[in-house]
Parts: sequence; C-alpha cells; structure tokens
Amino acid sequence: MAGAKLRGRVLSVASECVPLVKTGGLADVVGALPRALAAKGWDMRVLLPAYRALRADAQSWPVVWDEADLWGGPGRVLAGEVAGVSILLLDAPHLYDRAGGPYSGPGGEHPDNAVRFAALSWVGARIAREGLADWKPDVLHAHDWQAGFAPAYLAYHGTGGVKSVITIHNIAFQGWAPAHMLSVLRLPGHAFHPEALEYYGGISSLKAALVTADWITTVSPSYAAELMRPEFGMGLQGVIVARAPVVSGILNGVDTEAWSPAAEDPSFGPKSLAGKAAARAKLCEEFGLDVPGPLAIVVSRLTDQKGIDLLPAVIPDFILGGGGLVVLGSGDPGLEGAMRNLAARHPGRVAATIGYDEGLSHRLFAGADAVLVPSRFEPCGLTQMYGLRCGTLPVVSLVGGLADTVIGANPATLAAGAATGLTFHPVDALAFGHALTQLLEVYQQPKLWAKLRANAMGHPVGWESSAAEYAGLYERLTA
Ligand code: ADP
Ligand code: GLC
Repeated sequence: MAGAKLRGRVLSVASECVPLVKTGGLADVVGALPRALAAKGWDMRVLLPAYRALRADAQSWPVVWDEADLWGGPGRVLAGEVAGVSILLLDAPHLYDRAGGPYSGPGGEHPDNAVRFAALSWVGARIAREGLADWKPDVLHAHDWQAGFAPAYLAYHGTGGVKSVITIHNIAFQGWAPAHMLSVLRLPGHAFHPEALEYYGGISSLKAALVTADWITTVSPSYAAELMRPEFGMGLQGVIVARAPVVSGILNGVDTEAWSPAAEDPSFGPKSLAGKAAARAKLCEEFGLDVPGPLAIVVSRLTDQKGIDLLPAVIPDFILGGGGLVVLGSGDPGLEGAMRNLAARHPGRVAATIGYDEGLSHRLFAGADAVLVPSRFEPCGLTQMYGLRCGTLPVVSLVGGLADTVIGANPATLAAGAATGLTFHPVDALAFGHALTQLLEVYQQPKLWAKLRANAMGHPVGWESSAAEYAGLYERLTA
C-alpha cells in the first residue's frame, strides 16, 4: 500500500483464499481482491479458518484476538502476511484442525459445518464491531454462505458503526441449518420469520446475509439479473428481488501475471504464437495425442453446474471432425467415470486426468486451442478468462459471467472486430454441438482464427476496473 493515501479498512471474511486454501474460484477472488484494492489505498485483511494444513506455519504469528467460547472450545486469531495479503487465521482446533478439505473429511461433509462457519462469522463480526488493538475496519465484506452469518451478527448484536457487504459467488450453496439451531447459532428468535431469518422452515446463512447486509454484490452483472428469476435464484430469488436497490454485479478479474502467455513461454505473446505451438506440441506428447484439428480443454469441477454431462453427447462428432480434448477435473464420481470412458473410447484424441493439478492447468491453457465451458449456470467463471488471456478460444454457454466476458463470433461481431470466442444457447447438446462444429470450421480458416485469437488476447481480464468498482462501493457505504 506504500505511497497510496489510506481510503479505508476492510475485513474480508471467507473460507478460502489463494495461495492458502482453494477448492474453486472463490479462493482466487478472495486472494486477488485485497491485492488489487491495496494498490488503491485500501487497508485489507482477510479472516480465514486455520485449517490443519495452515496451522503449523502460523504458530509463530502474533495472537491478536482471543475468543473464550467458540462452540465447544476457545479460539484465537493469529495475524500474518502471505503473498502480500494480510491474513488473520482463526485458530480453533476443535473446529478446524481436521483431515481433509475445508468442508469435508475422509467420511464426507463435516456434520457441524453450520457451527464451524458460524464461528468464523462470529469472530469476524466481533473483530469488525470492536476492532483489534490497532485496527478497526470500516467495512466487513463477507463471501458466500460460509461468512453469511457475519452481517447478521452485526445486525442483531450491534454494528459498531461498521457497514457490511455480502458477495454471492454461487447461490447454489446456501448454508442450511435446522430451525432448532437458531439459539445455538446465537440468532434472535424474534427474527425467525420469512422476511428475516426463516428459510423454508429452517435457517440459511446466505439468506441471513441477504436480509441483513448493507449491500449485496455478485460476481457478474448478468448473474445479478439472473438471480432475480426462479431458474437461477434457487429459492432465494424473492429475497434478492426485495433487496434489488442494493444489489449489484461486479465482474471478477483474473491474476494476469499468473495467467499470461509469457508466464508459460517467453516466446509466446499476442504478437508471436511460436511459443503457443511449442506448448501445444509438448501437451500432445505428454498425453500421447495426435490431433489434426482444434485441441480443446476442460478444466473444471465435474458437476451438474458445469454441464460436463453434455460432453459424451457432443465429443464423438467433434473427434470425427478432427478435434481433440483433454479434461482436467474432479467431482461427481459418475462424471469422473464418464470422462475416463470418453478417453478410453478415443485413444490418441481424448485424455482425462481426474484430480486437481494447478501446474497441469497452466500447461493446458498455454498449449490448447480452445477451452470449453458449457455451464448451466455460471456466476462468473474464471477459466474462460484464462482462455482469453492465453489465446485459447473460449467456447461457452450464454449464462452469467460467461455471457459478460465472451463475445461470440457471428457476422456482426466479426465485422466489428469484437468477437473473442464462440457462444451457444440454450445449454443443451444440440446447441453445444453446433458451437463445436463452428469451432472446427473457424479452425480451418487461419486468418479468421488468428483474428479471433488476437481479439481474445486483447480483451482486458485483469482486476483493474472491478477493483475500482469495489472501491467505489466501499466509499459510498462509508461516506
Ligand atoms: P468454480 O469456482 O465454480 O469452480 P471458476 O471458474 O470460478 O469455477 O474457478 C475454478 C478455479 O479452479 C479456476 O482457477 C480453475 O482453473 C481451477 N480448477 C478447477 N478444477 C481444477 C483442477 N482439476 N485442477 C486445477 N485447477 C482447477
Ligand atoms: C463460484 C462460481 C464461479 C465464480 C467463482 C468466483 O465458485 O461458481 O462462477 O467464478 O465463484 O467468484
């Protein structure tokens, strides 16, 4: 923050943050936003649970907060800095020192997740309201259901003058708990009605935030509009409509240093594609592929949201047309099996790696010709933006942030020099198949392909303008 005038202080509360812990794009955003805002004069800190993998390294960090009674044990907050971001780790071993990921262990999802993330939200709200010894935020910024109770705790236990923002990264995850937990969760009985905390007979931490936060954002303008409709609102559309005046969509950015052609190969940039050809050749060698047409990739959670089940229906024709595919992902066991089958049925043309592999994901974006994102809904999506940045043409369904970041090729957008990829709608195998046919055709036209690729690589995907929008929001809230 050196040099910039102090604009204000913001405490982000979240369950994931790169490079410490990540299961999806939430972590990227929670990690990148503070860095982008710090450069604009915002003093940002991120409160996260001290999961098992994070505890050891933080034991030497100073303790800046103590909490005696955190649902079955004490907690303390350790302060440190990681990759240029000020981190506050909530160390409460009875809640977070467990095997596995942030939400589940070897035996499946943790049964006490409602309490585990209520504890995170509770401490976030208290720090916001009372301040640390030397730091008190002006804004508490909660991310997703895991931090959803934080704005509610401010609203019902006192705000201490702090404003709150909830960002919806994915409304499919709502943080549900049964009604009898209301007092256990330190929520007031008088607020248990449909206009406040009650949600289909129970409690939802995301709804709690939506009814109590001073402002609601989501991660793209299109998703903000979609959330007001039942097809996308997933039961919460009425709540969003009721609060429409304080809802806005602010598009995510991506880390343009980590995701850049030059980061993969110095000879690869918008003006020279020699490095891209080399990266493609290496990729084909790594996976034993021989692909005469476009080499496509999918890097994704393998879930219903992502439309992965459409691949087995459309890929065989794409292969016949000369295309190839590498899938990197994990998730639903049925979809993992379907991806393995696809690879087994098309040796030399399709490969599937089931798992999570950051290094491989970079090699894939560097070397591939196209990235497929056939999501049924997509709040923002990051991989289509990695594709734009690396000249790996995005082929996307026209939903949410995909519609806001990719301009589909058609005669008008091509004439205007605006097209950056291929888009399709509705989200079904027929429309997706058409888009892949278009991909095969465009690939056969080197001039057109080069033009699209240049447009894509020129499309801004960094944090600059979105960070300015968040800064403007914080300023309006605290004015
Ligand atoms: P979501 O958060 O819904 O999963 P996003 O597109 O916003 O979708 O973000 C997903 C992030 O996770 C991206 O950074 C993507 O590259 C990464 N990712 C997803 N699956 C894998 C995987 N199997 N290996 C490496 N990175 C992955
Ligand atoms: C969620 C969404 C994804 C978005 C990410 C970061 O996981 O599914 O679309 O990009 O959050 O905001």
